[in-house]
Amino acid sequence: MENAVLRTERLNAYYGESRVVKSVSISVPENKVTAIMGPSGCGKSTFIRCLNRMHELVSGAKIEGKVLLRDKDIYQMESTLVRRKVGMVFQRPNPFPTMSIYENVLAGYKLNGIRLKRSEADAIVENSLRKAAMWDEVKDYLHRRGTFLSGGQQQRLCIARSLAVKPEVVLLDEPTSALDPKATSKIEDLMEELKESVTIILVTHNVGQASRVSDYTAFLYLGELIEFGPTERVFTVPKSKKTEEYLIGKFG
Ligand SMILES: Nc1ncnc2c1ncn2[C@@H]1O[C@H](COP(=O)(O)OP(=O)(O)OP(=O)(O)O)[C@@H](O)[C@H]1O
Ligand SMILES: [Mg+2]
Repeated sequence: MENAVLRTERLNAYYGESRVVKSVSISVPENKVTAIMGPSGCGKSTFIRCLNRMHELVSGAKIEGKVLLRDKDIYQMESTLVRRKVGMVFQRPNPFPTMSIYENVLAGYKLNGIRLKRSEADAIVENSLRKAAMWDEVKDYLHRRGTFLSGGQQQRLCIARSLAVKPEVVLLDEPTSALDPKATSKIEDLMEELKESVTIILVTHNVGQASRVSDYTAFLYLGELIEFGPTERVFTVPKSKKTEEYLIGKFG
């Protein structure tokens, strides 16, 4: 395995008594896209929420095992720091409705109480919007509300917001499932560019999307990690019968 930026060791996640992530050990390689696939309810979202300590925000939820970010146990770190280093983008674009595009990009700083000089703030906004491939589209409208944008632009704005705080890893939970094909393909292209500067973990239902954009693929089933490896290998010679059945659309 290449350099792993994030690792889990026998990770279990619970809601109350119910264990929905079962002893998952995985090493996520740096500057790659790792896809997490699996049928609805298999624990994909829960799993990635353990990677930035969002799972614990649900009452009655707990984890066992370890999550290591560059060999440091994230459950021994401050949770706000963890969430800055491991960013997240959700299924539905969720720009802050009362904020401008400019303020949205900087929201992570504001929430963390970090004050920036005007020149610094301007540079972060431009840089993040460029990385999210939308600077040219919005540079003349930075002080308009983010909610004026199309769905695909809103999602790229959310990606820009997550990049602004310079994370090491970005978790994307089905980021295109609410978008049309054109907006989807724009975000798929974007992931290819983003991985040069950040490690991406992409939850997707869409087998085609996993094969197009990911370098590594993990297949989860009923909370267990059934298969993990280079996407090309997983798609051409899956080791598990279950993976094969999922890939050919027998279930899920
Ligand atoms: N807040 C919660 N409280 C209790 N159980 C939950 C909660 N969230 C999810 N679950 C349960 O945990 C299991 C895993 O759910 P999770 O949302 O992680 O699956 P998923 O693979 O992301 O599914 P989908 O593809 O539909 O998004 C499911 O059985 C679900 O019902
Ligand atoms: Mg989910």
